[in-house]
Amino acid sequence: MNIPQRVKLIDVGPRDGLQNEKTPVPAAVKIELVHRLQQAGLKEIEVTSYVSPKWVPQMADNHEVMEGVARQAGVAYSVLTPNLKGYEAAVLDKPDEIVVFGSASEAFSQKNINCSIAESIERFAPVVEAALAAGIAVRGAMSCTVGCPYEGDIAPQQVAYLAGLMKGIGVQRVDVADTIGVGTPRKVQRAIEATLQHFGIDAISGHFHDTYGQALSNTLAALELGVWNFQASVAGLGGCPYAKGATGNVATEDVVFMLHGMGIETGIDLDKLVDAGAYISDYLGRKPNSRVAVAVLNKRAG
Ligand code: HMG
Ligand code: MG
Repeated sequence: MNIPQRVKLIDVGPRDGLQNEKTPVPAAVKIELVHRLQQAGLKEIEVTSYVSPKWVPQMADNHEVMEGVARQAGVAYSVLTPNLKGYEAAVLDKPDEIVVFGSASEAFSQKNINCSIAESIERFAPVVEAALAAGIAVRGAMSCTVGCPYEGDIAPQQVAYLAGLMKGIGVQRVDVADTIGVGTPRKVQRAIEATLQHFGIDAISGHFHDTYGQALSNTLAALELGVWNFQASVAGLGGCPYAKGATGNVATEDVVFMLHGMGIETGIDLDKLVDAGAYISDYLGRKPNSRVAVAVLNKRAG
């Protein structure tokens, strides 16, 4: 087994996490969360998205949030851009990386971004071209790579098809996302192997929602294939508004605890990360959705 010795985590809590909150979270709270994440040692943070405010009202404050973040050298700030309109708005805020987001399932593509997979690629192509010309990195999120809320199981060939299309338009790296958290280790490995037909292992990240409690196991399964980039959400925030019932990403705290326990470096200070998760969870009026965070907080209180 070629388990990596170092892992890079992208915290997607401010975006994937907070996009799904019913009550508005003020920009100042989102900014403070980003600050706390960078203080905890996160080197990549997915801050917001430039999508229709009618579709996702929670991300309507994208400019305010990006402007308010006091950026730290060595930290990359990424944002989602589904089309040129989103890109043109995003570029004013100087993101380090933009993310186009497609789906391995046709039905989810329609529900999430209102177009087919082929149409989505047509929309992404000019976005990718413009970003690369401007020196902005480009990532492609691939949703529903193991299961879809509307189509059920997704075959690895569908993942390979999407990965090939993403590669064809110049996307530099991709996320293998289990949007609804139905993946189990072997299925997730099949989705990653399908992606490997078009992208090298260094250009693949795992993005696992924890709806069915499989995300840590899936993370380990991905590590076994050599994947060393992962997305996770502080306090396990989130879900996708177009994947009903799906809960948040695997909690960053849980991933960090597992990795450190395996002797894998992340550069993240778990205590400060727990503080960041407690900050946003307190604001939202609930406990962090992270077993590790709750254990650490209980231990501190005791
Ligand atoms: P559409 O209706 O097909 O777009 O939506 P349109 O071009 O026909 O425009 C319709 C209206 O939206 C117009 O406004 C446009 O100006 C506006 P109106 O004239 O009606 O007032 N519009 C925009 N406004 C702001 N920013 C934009 C933009 N584009 C058009 N970029 C669209 C297409 C993609 C915009 C829409 O479907 C949308 O916003 N969808 C939201 C998708 C989303 O944010 N989903 C959640 C994130 S994805 C996710 O969570 C999965 C991930 O985590 C991986 C995983 O777990 O699987 C990444
Ligand atoms: Mg997601």
